[in-house]
This record gives sequence, structure tokens and C-alpha cells, in this order.
Amino acid sequence: MPHAEFYYHDNDQSVAFTEDHNSGIPVTEEELSSIGVFYRHLDTLEEVDQVATERSYKNRDQIELSPVTFPGGADALDKKLETFYEEHLHEDEEIRYILAGEGFFDVRDHQDRWIRTKLYPGDLLVLPAGCYHRFTLTGKKYVKALRLFKDEPKWVALNRGSQEAESSSSRGEYVNSISVN
Ligand code: LAC
Ligand code: NI
Repeated sequence: MPHAEFYYHDNDQSVAFTEDHNSGIPVTEEELSSIGVFYRHLDTLEEVDQVATERSYKNRDQIELSPVTFPGGADALDKKLETFYEEHLHEDEEIRYILAGEGFFDVRDHQDRWIRTKLYPGDLLVLPAGCYHRFTLTGKKYVKALRLFKDEPKWVALNRGSQEAESSSSRGEYVNSISVN
């Protein structure tokens, strides 16, 4: 299985967002780490359990996105993907471990450019609270993932541009945490 790929998004809006959008400019794990994004490749669920213990992830569930199993079918899934692709943040960490299939998480760098992470089975990605991001499936249109949580799952997405997102305490804390000053 390939491991995650990290690169700058090409911002080409004439092509479906489920395409790779690889600008050819790679991004390192250090750059991700400088914006508070945590990445690990974990081959076994035992390793996932270990990280979950270390980072106090007490709860988890499993999600599958597929045009075959999604309630309402392929069209309903496409609508859902539009929502997932709206730039948003959460008041808690977003933690995903890929079990099967593929997915893209895009995150903003210090200059507000999109970094694209392409995730494969075994990849764990943690987006800090307050970090703007968006998600989509790849052209394969399939992913099965574990969602891990420190506490109870919270699903609220605060879209960029909204007062709630900009004024949320998680946003302020995140911006401070990654500031280079
Ligand atoms: C989420 C992804 C879509 O919030 O970012 O579940
Ligand atoms: Ni999210």
C-alpha cells in the first residue's frame, strides 16, 4: 500500500475536486507539523490503539463512503461531498485513520495556500481544532475510515467566512499556536 502524499493543490477549478490536483510541488511532514497537523502511518490496529491511548482518544466509530452504500445513492453522496468540500473548522480535533480506499484532506498553510494530503489505508491524520480544512473522496469514490474522538463526537462544522468560525476560541488558539512570532 502506498503511504500518504502531500503536495500543494493546483487550484484548477475546471477539473472535478475528486481529481488529484497535484501542482507538482511537494510538501514535507515538517511543513504539516508546522501548522499543527499530525501524520503517522500505522500498519496495525494495535498501533492505532497505542496512539489513541497516548493522545487520549477515548471514543471511535467507523464511517464508509461509497455510492453503493450511501443512503440515497450516488447523487446523494455527491451532494454530501459538496458539503465536505466547503472550507470549515471544528472546535475539536478531527482524527481519521484510513482502513480502506482513499481520501483527500486539504489544509491551509501559513500563507493560506491549500496543501493537499492524499491518504491511503494505514494513514492517520489529525487536524487541530480551529484549523481550516476540507475533505473529498478521490476518483475511486470509496473510503472506510475510523473517526477517533477525545470525548463525545461533535459534528458541527463552522464554515469559513462565518462569524462563528472566525470568532471561535479554537480559531484564536490555533492561529496563536502556529504563529511564527
Ligand atoms: C469532516 C470532514 C469532512 O468534518 O472534514 O468530517
Ligand atoms: Ni472537518
